[in-house]
Amino acid sequence: MSNKNKWSEDNIPNQAGKRFLITGANSGIGLAAAKVLAAKGAHVILACRNETKALQAMATIRQAHPKASLQFLALDLGSLDSVRAMAQDFLEQYDRLDGLINNAGVMWLPKGTTRDGFESQIGINHFGHFALTGLLLPALLKQPGSRIVTVSSIAHRAGNLNFDDLFFERRAYGKHKAYGQSKLANLVFARELERRLNRAGTQTISVAVHPGVSNTSLGQYRTETPTSRIVSSLAHLLTPVLGQSALKGALPTLYAATADAVQGGDYIGPDGFYEAFGSPAPAASTRRSRNPEIARTLWEVSEQLTGVVYPFESQQAVA
Ligand SMILES: NC(=O)c1ccc[n+]([C@@H]2O[C@H](COP(=O)([O-])OP(=O)(O)OC[C@H]3O[C@@H](n4cnc5c(N)ncnc54)[C@H](OP(=O)(O)O)[C@@H]3O)[C@@H](O)[C@H]2O)c1
Repeated sequence: MSNKNKWSEDNIPNQAGKRFLITGANSGIGLAAAKVLAAKGAHVILACRNETKALQAMATIRQAHPKASLQFLALDLGSLDSVRAMAQDFLEQYDRLDGLINNAGVMWLPKGTTRDGFESQIGINHFGHFALTGLLLPALLKQPGSRIVTVSSIAHRAGNLNFDDLFFERRAYGKHKAYGQSKLANLVFARELERRLNRAGTQTISVAVHPGVSNTSLGQYRTETPTSRIVSSLAHLLTPVLGQSALKGALPTLYAATADAVQGGDYIGPDGFYEAFGSPAPAASTRRSRNPEIARTLWEVSEQLTGVVYPFESQQAVA
């Protein structure tokens, strides 16, 4: 395909009348996606943990697009209380949602736990989004054609879901391992959600994406062991040189959220070398990420640990 035929934000039709909620929209890929969707006329809700940063991001968007329809909702994905409060806040204001973009993420954090005692990376990246999606599902199900977009990563390929010790309580913590595990969880979740939405006969789809390598503030955290310090330092040196812009990194997300050609269960990433950069296209994924047994186990564990049971389950049992 020649460059002029590649999909870009210019291909997005008018989004007036649509409502999107983007987690972590104050920075990087989430901010770029929020800016484009607002420019196209959508009402964009920036669900962020830091109000000052969110208001700054909204001011930046309004500088370029003075008529942008924007709203801030407070959300800390590292706290189930905060996730519940934000979902309730949203549902008190709206009964429908066109697009939920599960974008927020942390990478390579030193060992730590969320408020609920989950290892931080899988706690924020997966369990927080699992709970949020389940709580907002009633609003998504009411809107025919609604979409749930979950941001995974090339790093899912190195990930392994260790259900015997998801939180590294009985094995040595590795920040790269923990990040890979969390991003595998994002992809497995997105696909299992699609299977369940589909079997329940809903008109909502779930799609997974990854942004390749994008120059954002992700992975700013320092670490302990010499080897992982070398890996992190190399990444910090190379990403600004080799990484694509946040807007380019946001294209798979924007494509998944708006393009007609997208189908439930798709996994979209950049089409360039090693899927590190480029334009939206089907992305490669590991066999593990497609394993239905892993998916079912992750779902059960996620419902148990978050206490969020998806509403369509009670309407139709999933085999
Ligand atoms: N950049 C890449 O090359 C790359 C590659 C693969 C995948 N990804 C994925 O892309 C997504 C976006 O990352 P990015 O590159 O745009 O990084 P970023 O610029 O650091 O943005 C991450 C966003 O997530 C928010 N966040 C972090 N912890 C949160 C929490 N507990 N509750 C609510 N929000 C929280 C951050 O808020 P604060 O500003 O308050 O910290 C920030 O808004 C992530 O899921 C990441 O894993 C990125």
